[in-house]
Amino acid sequence: MFKQKRKTMKVISSIGRLQQVIKQIKKKNLSIGFVPTMGALHNGHGSLINASCKENDITVVSIFVNPLQFGPKEDLKQYPRPFKSDLAFCRKLGVDILFHPSAEQMYPESFSTSVEVKGLSDVLEGKFRPGHFRGVATVVAKLFCMIMPDKAYFGQKDAQQAIIIERMTKDLAMPIKIKVLPIIREPDGLAMSSRNIYLSKSQRQNSVVLYKALTLARQLINSGQRDAVKVISRMKQLIKTVDEAKIDYITVVEPYSLKPVSKITNGCLICLAVRFGSTRLIDNIVVGDSWKLTERFKK
Ligand code: PAF
Repeated sequence: MFKQKRKTMKVISSIGRLQQVIKQIKKKNLSIGFVPTMGALHNGHGSLINASCKENDITVVSIFVNPLQFGPKEDLKQYPRPFKSDLAFCRKLGVDILFHPSAEQMYPESFSTSVEVKGLSDVLEGKFRPGHFRGVATVVAKLFCMIMPDKAYFGQKDAQQAIIIERMTKDLAMPIKIKVLPIIREPDGLAMSSRNIYLSKSQRQNSVVLYKALTLARQLINSGQRDAVKVISRMKQLIKTVDEAKIDYITVVEPYSLKPVSKITNGCLICLAVRFGSTRLIDNIVVGDSWKLTERFKK
């Protein structure tokens, strides 16, 4: 699916070595695109890597399963780590530098700093995963400091994460352009995610109801329904037809603030989180289909 390039990829695990290499790149005035990941790479990551390779001289991908963003009852130990195939995936797409530090490198015993984007981190996913976005913001801030990219690439699937990172870069005056790219879906509509492998066969079959519910919302809105309560109620009705689907939330929010809206307008985000057994799936659509984070956060 993706174009193939032949060049040598540097695989780096030490922060010191990474910083030396980045210094050389900066000396040559080359632009850097950065794709942070936790590995278990799929075509969603592929689209971010491809965009970075196209738009920058050098592409850095990080693979680090960040313990700070997992709650005590979450899947840190179980999280897939297919490092060999991730390496091949990155090579094939033409990544220049693959950074995969150990947890000890990233968080030595003396590590005491955290980055918190207040307000935006406490709602939606943050309500169900306390501390998650503090972990995300902290690791991304640290990676940004080490890599100093010109552009960093995030998927719309983790919309709240992208909004928080965008807020963080603006608040801390980090000279980095955040690019948010569309969700890549399986042929039946399920949003690609490294966690989809946890689904049983029947859960996987039933999970398509999420995309169906988002599609229904889009249809209702396109035919003039702008009442958020009514749209959400129809989505809930549809998802509830699947016994094993347990809804954590379905909401329509204003994308600067993530505050719920009652009247749906273009640019609003319709997001949902639904559990299938112990696997939580999230998905979203932007009303009017325009993801314009950078413009939104000029203020
Ligand atoms: O989206 C992810 O995979 C992670 O949250 C990120 C951005 C790599 C930080 O660990």
